[in-house]
Amino acid sequence: MKVFHKIADLQNELFAVRKDNKTVGLVPTMGALHEGHASLVSRSVKENDVTVVSVFVNPTQFNDKTDLNTYPRTLEADCKLLESVGADYVLAPSVEEMYPTPDNRHFEFPPVTTVMEGAHRPGHFNGVCQVVSRLFYIVRPDKAYFGEKDWQQIAVIKALVRFLGIKVQIIECPIVREADGLAKSSRNTLLAADERAIAPTIYKYLKESQEYAHSHSLKETHDWVVEQINAVDGLEVEYFSIVDGDTLLDVENWEDSKNIVGCITVYCGKKPIRLIDHIKYNS
Ligand code: PAF
Repeated sequence: MKVFHKIADLQNELFAVRKDNKTVGLVPTMGALHEGHASLVSRSVKENDVTVVSVFVNPTQFNDKTDLNTYPRTLEADCKLLESVGADYVLAPSVEEMYPTPDNRHFEFPPVTTVMEGAHRPGHFNGVCQVVSRLFYIVRPDKAYFGEKDWQQIAVIKALVRFLGIKVQIIECPIVREADGLAKSSRNTLLAADERAIAPTIYKYLKESQEYAHSHSLKETHDWVVEQINAVDGLEVEYFSIVDGDTLLDVENWEDSKNIVGCITVYCGKKPIRLIDHIKYNS
């Protein structure tokens, strides 16, 4: 596995790869890698001749300076994990390397960029689109891998790809959970022990709500989830939106869509740490 800090060095290497007609898979990450990322990389390794993983904490997608500054950075451990799952190349550029001049492009694909995270984290998806589009231009992957944990992000990336007209297949990979149900996330490492202990309650109630939904209306189910989670000392729901999984528009009745997803963001603890998760209702 080779680690590059310069974009041109990776591109020189990929030039030779392309000459041999090899396929390239890209896994964009912000590092602090865990088994969720490892599953994306393993899938790319299986489906492509060459796998590139980017490790870059993208400043343009953070609307909160403290969040950016405290985001875990663990490149050495990340590289060990990536090597163990068979990644070929790692791109770990500096901010100056990734953005030699400020990125003034503005991406907006309503409603997928404006609802939920879009409404609560202004500018977040614009930053995601800026960095992901740059990565697509740099690597020119045949396939790019994203985790379903960030359900809305996948919808945004698909809208971006349609807009840019780039030939890349977006591969959605299932969420990976801890044994107690908590969705794996780089932010979990920021949780104190008592916060980590209550965090799995989020998925517990989401899961139970699938059963609850069989005999209750969508609104009743929505309110029940919010009530249960808010009743846990140390957890506070920022939003829980029950939406069509493709359009991300709110649905009012269970019959309104065959692909209904409940997307939740919860503040955990005193700092607090923002945790996101989702649940599918039609499966
Ligand atoms: O999902 C993430 O980790 C980031 O949003 C991504 C896609 C790597 C862009 O920085």
